[in-house]
Amino acid sequence: MAEQDVIEGVFLSAAYDLREIFAEALAPHAETIRLRHPHEIDDPETIRFALCWRPADDAFLPYPNLRLASSIAAGVDSIINCPSLPADALVTRVRDEDQGDVMAGFAAWHVVWHHRNMRHHIVHEAKHEWARLISARMKPPRETPVGILGFGLMGRAIARAVTAMGFPVVAAVRNAPRDAMPGVRFESGEGAAGRVAEQAAILINVLPLTAQTRGLLDLDFFNRMPVGAALIQLGRGEHLIEADLLKALDSGRLSSASLDVFDIEPLPAEHPFWADERILVTPHQASDCSPRRMAEQLARAARDVVAGRIPETVVDRANGY
Ligand SMILES: NC(=O)c1ccc[n+]([C@@H]2O[C@H](COP(=O)([O-])OP(=O)(O)OC[C@H]3O[C@@H](n4cnc5c(N)ncnc54)[C@H](OP(=O)(O)O)[C@@H]3O)[C@@H](O)[C@H]2O)c1
Repeated sequence: MAEQDVIEGVFLSAAYDLREIFAEALAPHAETIRLRHPHEIDDPETIRFALCWRPADDAFLPYPNLRLASSIAAGVDSIINCPSLPADALVTRVRDEDQGDVMAGFAAWHVVWHHRNMRHHIVHEAKHEWARLISARMKPPRETPVGILGFGLMGRAIARAVTAMGFPVVAAVRNAPRDAMPGVRFESGEGAAGRVAEQAAILINVLPLTAQTRGLLDLDFFNRMPVGAALIQLGRGEHLIEADLLKALDSGRLSSASLDVFDIEPLPAEHPFWADERILVTPHQASDCSPRRMAEQLARAARDVVAGRIPETVVDRANGY
């Protein structure tokens, strides 16, 4: 196949119509890549890549020459865990610095929400009550350590925002980074997340979902945190044992939580989290990547794979992120 030929791809998602969402962003790349839905494809051997979000278990089976599976987002867990993903397919994510900044603002807002007990003010405002909290009881940011689980594109952006507000940060990573960031300390290697939890008045999770991180946020983990700590859960629903969060809130070990991601999405209307005043629920809204950036990186990755190059946005399938 000549590098200038249009490279054929397929939309693979059991959750969304990806063409509807990304048609406009993909249009400028029509001379490089063409994507179709599976039911529109009668020559499956021509398909070289897939654009994916939560593909069905058997989604990849019809495409013998597929060599690239690209996520529409930062996370790749639903692709890597797909049983039909070909063993030799490269998996790419979107790397979007703007998405990091959006995530940082979202996380910083929640840090202030918990630190200043903003729920109290919203409840009293609704009743037209002037209910000042006693400022002397509030620890200043300098004495309120923020833990960040994961220090990749998201964790770094959050750390920049949170340290700028005066909060000291301790971050969990697998391998300690070589470049320092003022105001940030690291825990690395085996058990790093638990050691961060022990120090965090406010804990932000932006880990990828891997075999090591699935179910990490359980009761034993919460019981290592300082009494009255808050959780901001922005990673993946499967990181959290939901019943254990309620137990930790009931015991007072945790005071409050912000949850953006859930085991089942959309979160069912009857789920207890919705009505729980200690929990602030948002609909997996923390930060999306830009469709334009996604489409640019997809077209580049498809060209790279066809030319035998490794795309810049490739992830390590063995590590799971
Ligand atoms: N809610 C939302 O809207 C939203 C939006 C974007 C992303 N996310 C979630 O955030 C995740 C992270 O995104 P990212 O772009 O920051 O990923 P990334 O750049 O791949 O960074 C992942 C970070 O996690 C660390 N890590 C991985 N496994 C670990 C473990 N077992 N213990 C301690 N640290 C570990 C890595 O350590 P090393 O540095 O040592 O490799 C790295 O620092 C995504 O996978 C997705 O699940 C959610």
